[in-house]
Amino acid sequence: MIPFSPPRIDDRTVKAVEEALRSGWITTGPRTKEFERRLAAYCGVDRVIALNSWTNACELVLRWYGIGPGDEVIVPAYTYCATANIVMHVGAKPVMVDVLDDFTIDPEAVRAAMTPRTKCIIPVDIGGLPARIDALMRVAMDTCGFFTPKVNLRVAGSNPQMLLGRALVLSDAAHSFGATYGGKKVGGQADITGFSFHAVKNLTTSEGGALAFRLPEPFDHSELYKFFNTMSLHGQSKDALAKTQPGAWRYDVEFPGWKCNMTDIQAAIGLVELDRYDNDTQPRRKAICERYAAAFGADPRFEPPLFRDAERESSYHLYMLRVREVTEAQRDAIITAIAQREVSVNVHFIPLPLLSYYKAQGYRIENFPNTYKQYSREISLPVYYDLADAQVDEVVAAVKAAVSEVMG
Ligand SMILES: Cc1ncc(COP(=O)(O)O)c(C=O)c1O
Repeated sequence: MIPFSPPRIDDRTVKAVEEALRSGWITTGPRTKEFERRLAAYCGVDRVIALNSWTNACELVLRWYGIGPGDEVIVPAYTYCATANIVMHVGAKPVMVDVLDDFTIDPEAVRAAMTPRTKCIIPVDIGGLPARIDALMRVAMDTCGFFTPKVNLRVAGSNPQMLLGRALVLSDAAHSFGATYGGKKVGGQADITGFSFHAVKNLTTSEGGALAFRLPEPFDHSELYKFFNTMSLHGQSKDALAKTQPGAWRYDVEFPGWKCNMTDIQAAIGLVELDRYDNDTQPRRKAICERYAAAFGADPRFEPPLFRDAERESSYHLYMLRVREVTEAQRDAIITAIAQREVSVNVHFIPLPLLSYYKAQGYRIENFPNTYKQYSREISLPVYYDLADAQVDEVVAAVKAAVSEVMG
């Protein structure tokens, strides 16, 4: 059986974790701080905070921006549920919009959905291909005229909505660590960018996430970093490491914060992953995607995914193949036929309006025709470091045979 995306774990990873375990410090500590510094340097930003997941990290962002009941947050209908769930968690309303043929959110649909209640836009770099962030930042800036900040909101001594004066652009870069936009790494374009280091991601810490800050003046990134640290540790004025300094036991709780810090065991994995990302992991993933592209691009039954254009290059996280002229039921039958050939594939993603909870909230897939059109033909193929060329060829053969079997 060819698995879908096992993590890359080797002796180097195991040794790094062992060293962290034996160091005597296993929660947030020197390795996490080092990981954050190296992530910031990689993304070309002043500050990155590493936390325990994309979900918790980005939920903190919504809370920090004072988003709650009565507010709207624009998300694509085509994404993983986490993107919209965090909006529900803070009591705001996810406003869903359709995507373009490359699976990313349609900036013109976002523009049309902006209202005075819109507090945030969350584009998703699906499969690793960056959303059109320049156009989305322009939409946020162009609509600042009717942005209605909460005036009675004070967070960390200031009012972030008054300071920014427009909808916050929070990039869901759960798939796109290492991708580029305008020649620069993802992380340096949106106001805040959220990464996921979940086990199946192209850079993993087993579970984990991070926020890269790139807010305009007068935001102070060091202050923001400090505030998010406190927010992720119960609002406590000192973290465990700071309290170990002799005599430094006393702490205060400034507000009832959350608990979503990264551990040094996770960071130990992340440091190894980061060290070999650009020169080893990423090139291998790209080579796999290119091998698929050569095989499927030459066959008119398939539509290969877009990995680069003039502005963007993907992180090659997912190979989101589409089969032309198939119904959703035929696609599902093709997946069954692929599984019978001992290959694991997936579908990214079931659109939010097709999930029971969101359907019950009144969202209708008919309102997102392109989302449905792409989803109903989509099959994600295995992409991972240890997948050999011969296995890529096996996957190609299995997919082609399955399509022939189902479609004749
Ligand atoms: C598009 C997208 N956003 C957010 C997430 C959530 O990431 P995490 O599991 O780190 O919370 C995922 C996870 O799969 C994702 O695919």
